[in-house]
Formats: sequence, structure tokens, C-alpha cells
Amino acid sequence: MKILALTGSPRKDGNTERLVKAIIAGAQGKGAEVNYYDLSQLNIAGCKACMYCKSNDGCAVKDDMLPLLQEILTADAVILGSPVYMWQFSAQTKLFVDRLFAMLNPDYSVKFKSGLPLVLVYTQGQPDVKAFAGYFDMNAKMFEFLQFKVVDTLVCGGCRNKEDVEKNEAIIAKAKEMGEYLTTLK
Ligand SMILES: Cc1cc2nc3c(=O)[nH]c(=O)nc-3n(C[C@H](O)[C@H](O)[C@H](O)COP(=O)(O)O)c2cc1C
Repeated sequence: MKILALTGSPRKDGNTERLVKAIIAGAQGKGAEVNYYDLSQLNIAGCKACMYCKSNDGCAVKDDMLPLLQEILTADAVILGSPVYMWQFSAQTKLFVDRLFAMLNPDYSVKFKSGLPLVLVYTQGQPDVKAFAGYFDMNAKMFEFLQFKVVDTLVCGGCRNKEDVEKNEAIIAKAKEMGEYLTTLK
């Protein structure tokens, strides 16, 4: 079982990283092999809309997205975590998401295993976890269009200081269970 885990916060050891790492701990406890990347530490440019990917495999932009595209091809599950920035993904996360365009064929089929399990993770300052539900639902639909199978969307509210997520024992426990659950999908 190979899991690709990504976070898009520029804050090292912050809430998003901690929550995703709780999922990773659950998965590793059940024997999963997990490759974790901090998107903010990678060199990922925006999509150039050159359409290279519509007649070739891979992407014409030769940066750190290329190994991630390769990992998606062989992953059994993906975890993507982002802090909520201005009601949306962080910019670091959005760069990654836009570059998934390289996985989409002209007929809207995809180059990776259709139905690849995906867990979406958000942390936010707003205590009401329903505040951005419309945006999270739309993202889940977008990923389903890309033929991921969105297993769940975990949201932790009330995260201001970078360790605040640890005070929410319920969400940390849920994250660990989610990691364990992912290992049952293969
Ligand atoms: C630039 C910026 C924009 C933010 N925008 C929002 C927002 O729109 N809604 C919200 O609830 N929290 C917002 N926050 C708070 C973060 O979502 C929250 O602190 C999150 O847990 C940060 O994740 P991290 O600890 O992994 O960096 C924002 C924080 C920053 C730095």
C-alpha cells in the first residue's frame, strides 16, 4: 500500500501538517508506505496552458511537479491538506491542483488509476467547520471529475497557533482512523 501525502502550508509543523501526519501515523501503523511532501518547499510553477500534456505524457514544465505526477501513477491513495487562505486553498496547494491538468486526457479520461482514493484535509481559523462547506464540496466534486474517489473531507476549525489542532482530540483520533482505513482499500 503506497500513499502519497501532500500539504500546502508554508508554516512548518503547523496545523495542516500535524493533521495530515496523524493520518500518516494511522496508515503507517497498519504497514503503509507513505511518501510525504511539503508543497511549500517544492518548486512548482503554475500551469502554462501550453497543452503539451494533451499529446504527451508528463508536463512541459520541468519542475518538482514531475516526480509528483509520477507518484500519482503508482499511488494507492493520496492525502492532500491545505490551510484555508481567504476562504480557499492556499496558493501553494492551488499550484499543485492546477498542474493536475497534466493528468487529464483530451477526452477527459485520466492517466492514473480511475477511482484513486483521495482524502482532503483543511485547517482553518474559523471555528465553524461548516463555514466553507460549499467550497469544500465544490473541490470534492472537482476531484471526482478528475476521477479521484474522495473518501472524506476532514476539517479542523479554530486553528490559529500552529499547534491548535492538537487540542482537538476528536479530529486527531478521526485522522488516525482515516489512515488505518486507507490501508483497507487495497
Ligand atoms: C494568508 C492567510 C489567510 C487566511 N484565511 C483564512 C480564512 O479565509 N478563513 C479562516 O478560517 N482562516 C484563515 N486563515 C487561518 C488559517 O487557515 C489557519 O490558521 C490554518 O490552520 C493555518 O494552517 P497551518 O497551521 O498549517 O499553517 C488564514 C491564514 C493566513 C495566513
